[in-house]
Amino acid sequence: MKPLGTLYGLGVGPGDPELLTLKAARILGEVDVVFTSAQASTGKSLALEVARPHLRKSQEIVPVFFSHTFEGAASREAHRANAVRVLEVLSRPASAAFLTLGDPMTYSTFTYLLAALRAQEPGVPVAVVPGITSFAAAAAAAQIPLTEGNETLAVVSGARGPERVESALGLAENVVILKSYRHAEEICQLLDARGLADSTIYSIACSRPEGFTVQGLDAVPRDANPYMSLFVVKGAGPTVGTP
Ligand SMILES: C[S@@+](CC[C@H](N)C(=O)[O-])C[C@H]1O[C@@H](n2cnc3c(N)ncnc32)[C@H](O)[C@@H]1O
Repeated sequence: MKPLGTLYGLGVGPGDPELLTLKAARILGEVDVVFTSAQASTGKSLALEVARPHLRKSQEIVPVFFSHTFEGAASREAHRANAVRVLEVLSRPASAAFLTLGDPMTYSTFTYLLAALRAQEPGVPVAVVPGITSFAAAAAAAQIPLTEGNETLAVVSGARGPERVESALGLAENVVILKSYRHAEEICQLLDARGLADSTIYSIACSRPEGFTVQGLDAVPRDANPYMSLFVVKGAGPTVGTP
């Protein structure tokens, strides 16, 4: 087998370039190539913006494209094509970092890329550098614990609407809802109906200069629910609503 460089799955944290680990900063400055997951619609990469202060001037930056709207075969094909691109670079041989907002093993395109890479080249050298998740940053901004004592924390996707969120509310005292932007209004209605409106934290672009974090659904802007937004619901769990 041809020698391959190492691919680093690298978490750049929630958005503030200072919320990146020392290890991530060191590796960013060392690798030959940086892959950024750019939005197919805009070509923009927030992860790259976050990583930029840690990069060398001469570093090669290669965008790879994903779309939140890809599903099924189109999605598999996008991951396969990106894996081919990454393997071409690693086989120079060159080292590379694939940037992920937050943590690479938490709802990240990196894990799809990794599976596609391993399908094509099982022995590909990979190292994963964890990152501070968006919801750790939101809890820090609100100065509210994610969990205490014997409580449970559930992390759910709001991408398919409020049903999954409702099940999680019955199981865990604390529920983080990511990818809620398309269903934010329905999720707000559900939380309101469960008496959880005042104890819910909502965060937009947490740790970014333009970001903000509020407690209480009254403060949630109903007209704009951007992709970079999340809920942390406190006080849910099996005993809510029972006498
Ligand atoms: C594909 S997931 C990425 C999660 C990320 N890997 C992590 O560890 O937090 C994208 C979702 O994460 C949340 N998110 C990521 N960064 C955020 C931030 N800075 N502020 C608020 N929400 C954020 C949003 O819910 C967004 O829809």
